[in-house]
Amino acid sequence: MSLAGRSLSTLCDLSTDELKSILDLAARVKKSPKDYRKSLKQKTLAMIFQKPSLRTRVSFETGMTQMGGHAIYLAPTDISLGKRETTEDISLVLSRYADIIMARVFGHDIIEEMAKHATVPVINGLSDYAHPCQMLADLQTVQERRGAMKGLKFVYSGDGNNVAHSIMFGGALVGMHVVIVTPPGYEPKECALSKSREMASKTGGSIEVTNDLASAAGGADVLYTDVWASMGQEDDAERRKQFFMPYQVNMDVLKMAKSDCVVLHCLPAHYNEEITYDVTRSKNSAIFDQAENRMHAQKALMLKLAGAA
Ligand code: CP
Ligand code: NVA
Repeated sequence: MSLAGRSLSTLCDLSTDELKSILDLAARVKKSPKDYRKSLKQKTLAMIFQKPSLRTRVSFETGMTQMGGHAIYLAPTDISLGKRETTEDISLVLSRYADIIMARVFGHDIIEEMAKHATVPVINGLSDYAHPCQMLADLQTVQERRGAMKGLKFVYSGDGNNVAHSIMFGGALVGMHVVIVTPPGYEPKECALSKSREMASKTGGSIEVTNDLASAAGGADVLYTDVWASMGQEDDAERRKQFFMPYQVNMDVLKMAKSDCVVLHCLPAHYNEEITYDVTRSKNSAIFDQAENRMHAQKALMLKLAGAA
């Protein structure tokens, strides 16, 4: 299944079969990385960052190196997106040098504008609206631990943010029952909800939003959380704590889930806020496999978009 030349702005850009083909390739790449060590020889990935990163930067850069290619890190101050130069011109110029562009940005409209003007694939490495590469790795991790993904109960507790939206889109595509649990007023965006419900209606999945963690956690196959204040919301972090504390994923919540429940966190974690340290080190936790899988999943994605697999 060819995805050559395509961009990934959100997982809504993919069909169920396309998503599964990326995950299948990710599993092969992880098992036999040497088979792909020349697959992106002489190819260049341009990486634009408006926000900090550990996993996204290192997993993309390492992944590219392992496949014979090269990645260039462009820090927030290097190109000053939208200030020194327009997004349109940056996209057109980078398309003349690089084979793929990956960008981590604030506004999701920046990713859409890049994808519109670039003549090479553009990958969303996180925007305020979506984090599709994260969910590719999350699904790979769930598949490794649980085998089939269809019908699993995937419970996310926390802010209805970019990660929550991507869980909704990805969960919908593979037919999961996704439950997003947030404090009142922090629910996911209505457009993400209606879009993911429309996608889920075709796969037998479902998307539920609730403010009641105790009832949602019962029977969970996956328990997921993310920071309460995302990058760009740091000034609001202290105020948010009072609303989010009842949504912490701790041992009491883990006990309500299935005994073989998979605990996930996109990281970075703020221990004893959204998750307790003991939960992340429990036998249920797969958070470091999940972080590792960012690299394998993104290698598969780049191979597909570059037309090399
Ligand atoms: N999960 C994730 O995207 O991590 P970074 O912010 O460190 O890239
Ligand atoms: N929601 C978080 C995810 C970090 C990987 C943020 O946007 O900061």
